[in-house]
Amino acid sequence: MCGIVGYVGDHQPDARPLEVVLEGLRRLEYRGYDSAGVALVTGAGGLATAKKAGKLANLVAELDARPLPGATAGIGHTRWATHGGPTDVNAHPHVAGGVALIHNGIVENFAVLKEELLADGAELLSETDTEVVAHLLQRAYAEVKDLGEAMRLVVRRLHGTFTLLAVHEDHPDTVVGARHDSPLVVGLGDGANYLGSDVAAFIAETRRALELAQDQVVVITPRSVTVTDFDGNPAEGREYTIDWDAAAAEKGGFRSFMEKEIADQPQAVQDTLLGRTDTHGRLVLDDLKIDESVLRAADKIIVIACGTAAYSGHVAKYAIEHWCRIPVEVELAHEFRYRDPILTERTLVVAISQSGETMDTLMAVRHAREQGAKVLAICNTHGSTIPRESDAVLYTHAGPEVAVASTKAFLAQITAAYLLGLYLAQLRGNKFADEIAEILDDLRAMPEKIQEVLDRSGRVREIARWMADTSSVLFLGRHVGFPVALEGALKLKEIAYIHAEGFAAGELKHGPIALIEPGQPVFVIVPSPRGRDSLHSKVVSNIQEIRARGARTLVIAEDGDEAVKAYADEVFFVPQSPTLLAPLLSVVPLQIFACELATARGLDVDQPRNLAKSVTVE
Ligand code: M6R
Repeated sequence: MCGIVGYVGDHQPDARPLEVVLEGLRRLEYRGYDSAGVALVTGAGGLATAKKAGKLANLVAELDARPLPGATAGIGHTRWATHGGPTDVNAHPHVAGGVALIHNGIVENFAVLKEELLADGAELLSETDTEVVAHLLQRAYAEVKDLGEAMRLVVRRLHGTFTLLAVHEDHPDTVVGARHDSPLVVGLGDGANYLGSDVAAFIAETRRALELAQDQVVVITPRSVTVTDFDGNPAEGREYTIDWDAAAAEKGGFRSFMEKEIADQPQAVQDTLLGRTDTHGRLVLDDLKIDESVLRAADKIIVIACGTAAYSGHVAKYAIEHWCRIPVEVELAHEFRYRDPILTERTLVVAISQSGETMDTLMAVRHAREQGAKVLAICNTHGSTIPRESDAVLYTHAGPEVAVASTKAFLAQITAAYLLGLYLAQLRGNKFADEIAEILDDLRAMPEKIQEVLDRSGRVREIARWMADTSSVLFLGRHVGFPVALEGALKLKEIAYIHAEGFAAGELKHGPIALIEPGQPVFVIVPSPRGRDSLHSKVVSNIQEIRARGARTLVIAEDGDEAVKAYADEVFFVPQSPTLLAPLLSVVPLQIFACELATARGLDVDQPRNLAKSVTVE
């Protein structure tokens, strides 16, 4: 939620701060697009601000119409609205006296603080919690005349979650930031420094980054970065090099980031598999820093995640239970935390998150650790909060995912979950080395097969365009096809705004079959006929049941599965693969279908309404 960027440079006041901040906002817009705004500290010792409801383009138009003066420092914000609607007035930055401030998160005690400020004569213009903080900072600064110290005084009074950035008109060489349960990273430049909600904010400028811990205040000037805790005790961030460059986060000729990220999937899976075996072919998960005895002793795994990441957890359940014979539960992170789950030191909790910042998942991780469970994170974002706070981390290497709808991260998460399952099987002796090697070989063959699915996508695109006016689509699957059905439905809902539901195919006759009326499109994910035969034939029966009631069946089946042809209005064949690995292939036509259909409807595929890429509020 909300993208935040800050810049300060060692130069005369000029256009650069605005350019850097706008470029950062362009790259962060996927985090929220209800409004955008900037504040600059100008050479004349003043503040200049501009903000506009709607997408960043509206702010850019405003800046074209009313250009801002040159500056040495600046902050920028792209908003996903929480307190107060998406209006110009509620857009960030909020100004109080000489202070301009931006915020990501929710200040839970803002009402009390607002009362206090109003009683003291403050004039508040917006409905936001953020403006309250701007006034508190302005008052604190008036007392202590030190921006870092003023920020520390303020954050100690706030409850809730926040990343804050502020500038002051008297400090053309300073940006101050603070974080509590919301993300903030520092970019290290030469004669310039940067702050961002994530590294995309400054990737066009530098690949050197500094990770901040929770509850820290950071003051950047062109040549210094000073980090303290909220009490003013000195602290140090961990410096690291970002392993992708600005080009990786560009569309690269595709119509949308989503389309590009779908095309990136063979690479994402391949990179996630890379370097995971030693010279003897044994799996080594170097970044899995958790005691082997803990993994050997684990008697239950609970996967916690949200949205698409949770569906990857469902696939993980089938694979890990089958390979390792450990019970695996999968739970939405926001439900897990509030149901008093039974956790012991023998429970291994696996938290899956692309961003590593999803608040629901983070809170569940904290809860699990408080209860004594060990937490292993599967995450795509280095240095993000969830892996930082977990006992171990297995990074996916999907590269930056910009589109709100997750695609390549999903495939990378599933791949990482397979690796974890195989690693556990190796460690616990559930499988012989040659069995593991065989599955690994199958896995290594998957990127090429995914590419084949992409290369064959012409027909699914055609059907999607043809179905652009459809109002409802159902998705059915069994076994690992069930989470694929759920994911196919989620994709369509979130980017095409079409009613879509995924069902376990066997559940149909217990109610949902009543939805079927003549012409109802239903995608069916058919398992391999080479796998457990009963599974295949049961799904084929399910197709017949819905077809008998008039459904239009769009079937995803394996090459050579001639039996389904007779029952399908349309078949999309994917290459053969072992049943457990099949989701890496069968989900791809569904992603393409959603992307193409939403594009045909003229929708903004990358930035669907009401959503944001990282959900950093509960
Ligand atoms: O960053 P995370 O993987 O933790 O995000 C979890 C969900 O918010 C995310 O997968 C969401 O469901 C996507 N928009 C789905 O496409």
